[in-house]
Amino acid sequence: MSFFNSDHIAKVLVTEQQLEEAITKLGAEITKDYEGKKPVIVGVLKGSVPFMADLIRKIDLQITIDFMSVSSYGEDTVSSGVVKILKDLDSSITGKDIIIVEDILDTGNTLSYMVEMLEQRKPNSIKIATLLDKKERRIKDINADYSCFVIPNEFVVGYGLDYNNEYRNLPFIGVLDPKVYS
Ligand code: IMP
Ligand code: MG
Repeated sequence: MSFFNSDHIAKVLVTEQQLEEAITKLGAEITKDYEGKKPVIVGVLKGSVPFMADLIRKIDLQITIDFMSVSSYGEDTVSSGVVKILKDLDSSITGKDIIIVEDILDTGNTLSYMVEMLEQRKPNSIKIATLLDKKERRIKDINADYSCFVIPNEFVVGYGLDYNNEYRNLPFIGVLDPKVYS
């Protein structure tokens, strides 16, 4: 009995090894770009958790971490554009260099709202690091400063990404089999 290898997943889009390689590379890039700085790495709960955990251990700098939880109104797989803060940051970000870590940049509604809100707290800088980028779905004028994989317009789960809060623990990114929805 294996859940990871079950027929819930139609196909694997990004393997565990590809994730590890891309995140190691991204960590090195951030380490170089932020040399001499102490960035605050802000994870967006809950989808960013595995990515965040792996990424911060590849950033060879004196960082701090914080988390935010936001949700779009409505429980659908389609983002509504209205964002609600469920958990705010614990610490002030005024004058700090912020890197927001997200699982996926889709329509851009969530991140454009978050960036706008965090800008009001006068950080020194804000950048976005996303694991996945679904470019063709973008509605808002927002782009990732760092992204690991550009993916097609398919609903994916695993490595933090969920369907009804499940599948976050898959060690890879996969496309959900349509029969799961029915
Ligand atoms: P956006 O606000 O449309 O950019 O959507 C961002 C959020 O929608 C992500 O943080 C995810 O929680 C969710 N999302 C978008 N596409 C997917 C997907 O393919 N699988 C799982 N969640 C997704
Ligand atoms: Mg999310």
